[in-house]
Formats: sequence, structure tokens, C-alpha cells
Amino acid sequence: MKVIKVKNYDELSKVAASIIAAQVINNPQSVLGLATGSTPIGAYKNLVCAYNDGLLDFSNVKSINLDEYCGLSGENDQSYRYFMNDNLFNHVNIDKNNTFVPDGTAEDSEAECERYEALCESLGYADLQLLGIGHNGHIGFNEPASAFAAKTHCVKLQESTINANSRLFEKKEDVPTSAFTMGIGTILKAKKILLIGGADKKEIIEKAIYGDVTPEVPASALQLHKDVTVIYVAE
Ligand code: GLP
Repeated sequence: MKVIKVKNYDELSKVAASIIAAQVINNPQSVLGLATGSTPIGAYKNLVCAYNDGLLDFSNVKSINLDEYCGLSGENDQSYRYFMNDNLFNHVNIDKNNTFVPDGTAEDSEAECERYEALCESLGYADLQLLGIGHNGHIGFNEPASAFAAKTHCVKLQESTINANSRLFEKKEDVPTSAFTMGIGTILKAKKILLIGGADKKEIIEKAIYGDVTPEVPASALQLHKDVTVIYVAE
């Protein structure tokens, strides 16, 4: 595991974007595993700048996103599909038909999980998977649990996650209570993993990367992967 400590969010965003940019330059047909949340926004902004400067070409890139709220369609501005369009896809030359996010409106959740996992498998999983982290150690929406989930599944969100994410909604009652997420197994199938966290994530990141490997801290599973880079703000 490679650990890079940075001074602030700006540096975090620049270093993360440069790693993603290098991936796209080295393999223009990369499958990028992408993440939502506040943390990656700065990295996406830097990627858009690099694209505008003519340094990046996303025309042959494909993407698979980690997760999506159950019940929200892509037009809903709180959905992760909307987030991805708004923060990245609308600003670069990626073909949206090559960008994949679980379908939050799927009625048969089991079928949707199977479809999404099969899709990830058919693309060979992510060449580079970007991850944020929740304060409770969740990655994607893999909440602390008694076992690591192998595949894409539907999860009931923990109260702490609902509270944390409610800042982005008008009221707490609007936050969906369940979500589709890649499993820990799906995430670990990525060839490379890049975990990023701001200053408020220092404690949980250090617990995840230096503590016991346990499903109680889902991100600790990253210790089992052979090519992980962690960048976090630590003064
Ligand atoms: C959500 C997402 C995660 C993300 C986490 C942290 O719960 N499902 O993928 O890592 O939030 O978000 P933030 O970066 O806003 O702290």
C-alpha cells in the first residue's frame, strides 16, 4: 500500500487527479471506477481542467460507479447519476453510453444487483477504482457489518450515514434509506485502487489502513489488495 499524506484539500485533489489522468493517458480505454461524495469533487474539477487544456481524451474511457440511492432516478439532482453528469461527464468527451451507475429506480432490486455485477464483470472490473470513505469506514455504501459483501447488493443505510448525507438534502426525511452498492469483493477486483480523504477522515483512514482487517471497518479490506494508493490530508 502506498500512503501519500498531503497538506490540504487542494493538494489532495491535484494528486488524485494526476493519478487518474495518468491512468487515462497510459490506457485510453480504461475502465474507471468512480465515486461520489464531496471528497472527489476537487479531483473531478482538476480532470475537467486537464481536459480543457487538451491533455486528456475520455472518448474511449468507460466508467462504473460504486453506488446509487434506491428510489432516485438519474434526473433527481440528489442521485449519484446526476452528480456524475454534473461534476464530470457533462464537461469532458466521455460517451455517456459508456458510463454506468446502478439504476436507482429498478423495482426488482435483486435483478438490478445481478445485472450490475454482471456488467462490471463484462467490462473486466475497474482498471482504477477511486474511493472516498465514510466516517464509519464505509466504502461505496458497504456499511460496517458482520461479513464483507462479495458482490453488488442492496443495503439499508445506517443512521450515521443518513445523518452525514442529509446535509446535501433539503430535509433528513428526503434521504433514501437504502442503496445499491458494489460489494467489497467487486471493489477488490479493481486492478488499482485509489482511496482519498480530507482532514475529517484522517482518523478513520488510519484505522482502516493500519488497524485490524474487519468488516466492522469495511475499508480495512483494502489491506488485502496488492495495488492501493491512499492519499489523505494529515498535518
Ligand atoms: C457516501 C458515498 C461514499 C462516499 C461517502 C463519503 O456515503 N456512498 O462513496 O465515500 O459518502 O462522502 P464525503 O466525501 O462527502 O464525505
